[in-house]
Amino acid sequence: MQVTIIGTGYVGLTTGICLAYVGHNVTCLDTDPAKIAMLEAGKCPIYEPHLEELLAEARPRLRFTTSYEQAVPAAQVVFVAVGTPPGEGGNPDLKYVRSAAEGIAKHHTGGFTVVVNKSTVPLGSGNWVHSILLDAYTRTDGKFAVASNPEFLREGTALHDSLYPDRVVVGGDDPQALETLYTLYRPILDQTFEAPVYLPRPEDFGAVPLVSTDLASAELIKYAANAFLALKISYINEIGTLAEKAGADIRQVSKGIGLDARIGTRFLQAGIGWGGSCFGKDTAALVATASEYGLDMPIVKAAREVNRMQRERIVERLLAELKILKGRTIGLLGLAFKPNTDDLREAPAIDIARKLIERGCRVKVHDPVAMERYAKEHPDLATVACATPEEVANGADALVLVTEWQEYRELDWPSVATSMRNALLVDGRNALDKARLTRAGFQYRSLPG
Ligand code: UGA
Repeated sequence: MQVTIIGTGYVGLTTGICLAYVGHNVTCLDTDPAKIAMLEAGKCPIYEPHLEELLAEARPRLRFTTSYEQAVPAAQVVFVAVGTPPGEGGNPDLKYVRSAAEGIAKHHTGGFTVVVNKSTVPLGSGNWVHSILLDAYTRTDGKFAVASNPEFLREGTALHDSLYPDRVVVGGDDPQALETLYTLYRPILDQTFEAPVYLPRPEDFGAVPLVSTDLASAELIKYAANAFLALKISYINEIGTLAEKAGADIRQVSKGIGLDARIGTRFLQAGIGWGGSCFGKDTAALVATASEYGLDMPIVKAAREVNRMQRERIVERLLAELKILKGRTIGLLGLAFKPNTDDLREAPAIDIARKLIERGCRVKVHDPVAMERYAKEHPDLATVACATPEEVANGADALVLVTEWQEYRELDWPSVATSMRNALLVDGRNALDKARLTRAGFQYRSLPG
């Protein structure tokens, strides 16, 4: 099929490359010429494991452009995967969605096109996009149907999540549109594509369930899924605070409850809490949408509050151990909001660095891939950028593990401890082995713990 993807961020680019890989002809459009030039040269503007390799394999069926005129006319399906940055009052700002819809309508040359909302957009956006399309359309020989196809990929494992999803959700009120999307996703639903060598199909992975719904339900599924995952993390963090007071071990508690299949083991890792571009924004949007219906959403609000408090707890923990923060040197290991990405949006490290600086600390930072992005996006934050984790530790009064990169798990901890002024380590992710760190000479603290 002929597919166009508008927006080459995480969602758009991953979707485009995967759909091309499984056999479709895909045009990726972005209004940023620098991104398009990079892609044309075979480079990805985002850091995502294996994305450049898959791009190279799918290259013969991919085109990149900045022009709607080139991208829209032949497309049977157009995905809108543009950014929806946080807007006013908790709702995302939809200006890029609007201009994408206008661009589609203006350059449509007739026939039937399915316009798919892939960006996470509030309830009712499908109808809203349809009205923009109709308002901006000046011809009479074309027809649009709008569908919602929420995305569940995680940064860092985006390709795996796209090629081997738990489910595909498509929502729309036009049967022809849903049929078109079914055909589009068929290679993934039936798993008929050849798995890339570096992304093997998981063992026993069978056909992927397709959930076909009305427009509003698909839109709500996305928010309900993200809010549930966010509250699962906040729930374990709330239990973690109690576990700490009561002398229980949160890792054992997580395992003990997670093995109940009704609960599940995933997203029960206690620690600093969630960051990233999705959970914070989507829970805020859900609360904002609900308030338009006079609903309060106390559970979702509580999940947000617990997450906010976790970041403060890190500073409190350092204060409790060091007694005085002013003049201390604190090293942060990890800046990205989670491992295997360089994304710094709503990253806990940024908040923590800011709070520590406000308290008079000297803050040294390191991240295996996000340093460049950090320098670009946070030039105002007076931290000391270090090229290695060892450099962060050298002479520091405490280290905080903020992002559980594999590289940090494998550090030569005894020599790291020796190089510090005071060998205190706060494991913000409950990722390290307490016995090993204690043996290495550390005073080991975790959150909770
Ligand atoms: C999330 C969802 O998991 C995806 O399904 C969804 O498609 C995506 O948002 C989106 O809406 O675009 P993502 O934000 O990439 O994906 O990252 P996650 O892997 O969900 O992690 C989110 C945060 O939760 C990270 O900061 C991570 O460190 C934290 N986390 C995760 C925990 O603190 N504990 C856990 O047990 C799991």
